Amino acid sequence: MKFFVDTADVDEIRELAPSGLMDGVTTNPSLIMKAGRPMMDVIAEICDVVEGPVSAEVTATEAEAMIAEGRKLAAIAKNVAVKVPLTWDGLIACRTLSNEGNMVNVTLCFNANQALLAGRAGATFISPFIGRLDDIGIDGMELIEEIRIIYDNYENIETEILAASIRTPNHVKLAAMAGADVATVPPAVLKGLVKHPLTDKGLAAFLADWEKTGQSIL
Ligand code: G3P
Repeated sequence: MKFFVDTADVDEIRELAPSGLMDGVTTNPSLIMKAGRPMMDVIAEICDVVEGPVSAEVTATEAEAMIAEGRKLAAIAKNVAVKVPLTWDGLIACRTLSNEGNMVNVTLCFNANQALLAGRAGATFISPFIGRLDDIGIDGMELIEEIRIIYDNYENIETEILAASIRTPNHVKLAAMAGADVATVPPAVLKGLVKHPLTDKGLAAFLADWEKTGQSIL
């Protein structure tokens, strides 16, 4: 499973880059607001740091305007994935932008039929929002499982499942088990995946014993 990082904070992205674990970045209007900087500058800077897809979301709601915005965003860099919402107009914009050779991420997916439509519209990525379904008492992970089954039934759908609204390391594990192609995670969740108290405890014991040997490797 690939990891995208869900942030518009360029400093966080620069810090994560050396790990080699960051296969792309996703942003949305709320994350741009949080960054407090002009969107075009932020996306351009992220694209300089990250080779993989960088999602930049349109804010128009009508297809023609979405397409115009999408073309402008796609012109920022070759690795921009235009993000459009899962509405009828969004699907029209997805088809056009995809036909023009752009990567398209269809976002705000909350059921399997929406994902089927996005696949048919030529989406590069479909973004089911796990955490927000959990928030209303629906098991978000079931949606990943359903989409996996549907997409695997049809060879002509090449859309990747991008598990989004991931809030916890357990979400990451379950998304991987359900066959998500990508998980987009906040930086803190990505860094949290490495943590285990027995790892810390075991390392402390090894280092204490090593100290007693009086040796040095270098
Ligand atoms: O990728 C979409 C994500 O940013 C939404 O996350 O936590 O706001 O539901 P959240």
